Amino acid sequence: MAGRLLLFLFVTVTLGHAHFPAGQRQKPRLQRDRRNIRPNIILILTDDQDQELGSMQAMNKTRRIMEEGGTSFSNAFVTTPMCCPSRSSMLTGKYVHNHNTYTNNENCSSMSWQRQHEPRSFGVYLNNTGYRTAFFGKYLNEYNGTYVPPGWREWLGLVKNSRFYNYTLSRNGVREKHGAQYPQDYLTDLITAESIRYFRSSKRVYPHRPVMMVLSHAAPHGPEDSAPQYSTAFPNASQHM
Ligand SMILES: *[C@@H]1O[C@H](CO)[C@@H](O)[C@H](O)[C@H]1NC(C)=O
Ligand SMILES: *[C@@H]1O[C@H](CO)[C@@H](O)[C@H](O)[C@H]1NC(C)=O
Ligand SMILES: *[C@@H]1O[C@H](CO)[C@@H](O)[C@H](O)[C@H]1NC(C)=O
Ligand SMILES: *[C@@H]1O[C@H](CO)[C@@H](O)[C@H](O)[C@H]1NC(C)=O
Ligand SMILES: *[C@@H]1O[C@H](CO)[C@@H](O)[C@H](O)[C@H]1NC(C)=O
Ligand SMILES: *[C@@H]1O[C@H](CO)[C@@H](O)[C@H](O)[C@H]1NC(C)=O
Repeated sequence: MAGRLLLFLFVTVTLGHAHFPAGQRQKPRLQRDRRNIRPNIILILTDDQDQELGSMQAMNKTRRIMEEGGTSFSNAFVTTPMCCPSRSSMLTGKYVHNHNTYTNNENCSSMSWQRQHEPRSFGVYLNNTGYRTAFFGKYLNEYNGTYVPPGWREWLGLVKNSRFYNYTLSRNGVREKHGAQYPQDYLTDLITAESIRYFRSSKRVYPHRPVMMVLSHAAPHGPEDSAPQYSTAFPNASQHM
């Protein structure tokens, strides 16, 4: 399906102060200190999260944590509200007329995209400055899992469009098929579990390196396969809930 309304996005920034035990700070060097105070960046995307149709009303917990606990950008704009063009813009910071992905098919993850634009994604730049970069979930609608996009140290990309069960992932370049067992195959839960695991292990092994990770959910895009524990929560809902 060609997502009409697109990416409702949350950006979480946490400062890594907890990671400097006093004993490790003898003779800090300016350069080192600067590196240490860089924030972790966690970008959480949802797909077809339609504010106007009220889908956020079903997400009180999210609103409490993200909205009340953070900042809302009331003047944020999406220049081209269609799935692949918008994702390509978000990755590169370019308008559609500059990255040439006009629809969900034309130039979506095409060879010219891969050659000219993908090597300039924010993943590449942040990795180059020392961030530990990781991507989990839906990428570009036509991404077929045959390569790992540049810049991502840890890569768990969904092949093609939104699904919750019976899909294929590229795990660092190796295709991985998933069935329909809850919770291990349910994409929403898998993104959560894998990203938490990555964050913890990265902080354990490289406590002073900031992490930038993208949690790119397919939800609430159709097919609306709910997690079993929520399957009766909205009996009369006709929208993405
Ligand atoms: C969310 O909170 C509003 C306002 O308190 C309430 O009317 C609504 O029923 C809640 N929704 C859910 C799904 O709990
Ligand atoms: C795809 O992108 C290339 C250059 O990036 C451009 O020349 C070409 O016209 C685009 N194709 C379509 C169908 O827009
Ligand atoms: C995957 O896409 C690439 C271009 O991005 C193409 O060259 C390749 O043939 C495709 N592979 C499959 C299995 O569809
Ligand atoms: C990340 O950046 C480092 C340093 O520039 C580079 O050696 C490495 O290949 C990059 N990794 C990825 C996945 O792009
Ligand atoms: C997943 O695939 C199985 C086996 O083909 C099928 O029985 C099941 O209905 C599929 N589930 C979903 C949600 O697509
Ligand atoms: C759902 O709709 C049915 C039929 O209109 C109604 O009887 C029922 O009370 C509704 N359930 C909820 C939770 O609103």
